Amino acid sequence: MRVLLIGSGGRENAIAWSVYASPLLEKLYCIPGNPGIKEFAVCIDVNIKNNEKIYDIIQQYEIDIVVIGPEAPLVDGLTDFLEKKQVKVFGPSSYAAQLEGSKVFARLFCERHSVPQPDFKFYSSPENAINDLKSSNSKNGYVIKADGLASGKGVLVTEEIEDAISFVDDLYNKEIFGHSGKQFLIEEKVLGTEASIFTLIDGKNYVFLSTAQDYKRVFENNLGPNTGGMGAISPSPLVDEKILEKIENEIIIPVINGMDQEGKPFKGVLYTGVMLTDNGPKVIEFNVRLGDPEAQVILPRLKSDFLTAILATIDGGLKHLNLRWHEEIALNVVLTSSGYPGNFIKGKRITGLNSISNNSLIFHSGTKSDKLGNLLTNSGRVLSLTSLAKNIDEARKKVYGDIKKIKFDKAFYRKDIGL
Ligand code: AMP
Ligand code: GLY
Repeated sequence: MRVLLIGSGGRENAIAWSVYASPLLEKLYCIPGNPGIKEFAVCIDVNIKNNEKIYDIIQQYEIDIVVIGPEAPLVDGLTDFLEKKQVKVFGPSSYAAQLEGSKVFARLFCERHSVPQPDFKFYSSPENAINDLKSSNSKNGYVIKADGLASGKGVLVTEEIEDAISFVDDLYNKEIFGHSGKQFLIEEKVLGTEASIFTLIDGKNYVFLSTAQDYKRVFENNLGPNTGGMGAISPSPLVDEKILEKIENEIIIPVINGMDQEGKPFKGVLYTGVMLTDNGPKVIEFNVRLGDPEAQVILPRLKSDFLTAILATIDGGLKHLNLRWHEEIALNVVLTSSGYPGNFIKGKRITGLNSISNNSLIFHSGTKSDKLGNLLTNSGRVLSLTSLAKNIDEARKKVYGDIKKIKFDKAFYRKDIGL
């Protein structure tokens, strides 16, 4: 098979690493890719928003299937565009992708299909929202969410009403997330522990793609603002078979059936973020693709061929697919440019990758090569390392033993991943 991967982050590096090992693969291409992905794929520098150009590449290289990594092209309808041209695509339609692309859509969808979730109300102007906040007297605190995509940063959870009001102002008046914040939600703050459940769905059938726990806040002890993710472990130690069965019956199956009933069957990866509360699991968010850095801990644990699973998802064959997993757990730590998720400096020279041991897999998130072949930082999240081990302590020893060898100016990482 000739496979085209879309994306350029750590998640796509993990997908490329995984697909590259498939006996079904003839050749892997990636638009636009990154220096880590280049080890496995021919990277082609095309804007991922340019659907026509992507289709040209598909024809030119006789691509059999397209795997879409990030959420933006899914929400923008790349799958719909390519499927109309008879191209096989791994990733949901733009309608189904609204589960991630519009938090208001997701909440109303869950309401229609009786999926458990926090109470919510949505707004298209600040006045009513601020009045509701002032009169709510919430003891737990406040949760405000931009409706649209915001790279994992569009949510504020706070105890302080002043911060909540000021975030409404940021979203609506200051437009810090552009159009994404012109509609927004205020939600009941639910208490509990969080876990992420990954499911492959072929429209009607599904197979669990394991669980993970990510570390969203930038600083140790879960302090500081939300990021795209500073590290992850898989499987989630919090989700046993009994909890998974409850999540399956109360959330996953109703979502799959709901999409199908609405005439828009979901095909691809559903990433369900749940809060395990005293009153059962509640949906915190949906994503419609693998997580980043969750892909970097899930795919290394997968013993079965991922490309076979991708094909079964596209072709409606998940009923007959059994996935096998390595016994070990996986742990990933992300190395960032200090300042992320706020302002940070790019273009710093990265050294030390050659001294990383066989204990760790290296995945590039935001790097680029200069003309001399030097590796430079190119984003907030720069690189991440994953280790497999029989327990968290050993995985931590492996990853943290290696990550300190990677050097660049103002490198930063959390020291408490897995604790
Ligand atoms: P999201 O991007 O929707 O996953 O939200 C980011 C983080 O905010 C989640 O991982 C939770 O820790 C927290 N969060 C979101 N919604 C709620 C909620 N309704 N109650 C409590 N915490 C929440
Ligand atoms: N790590 C969170 C995400 O991929 O959305």
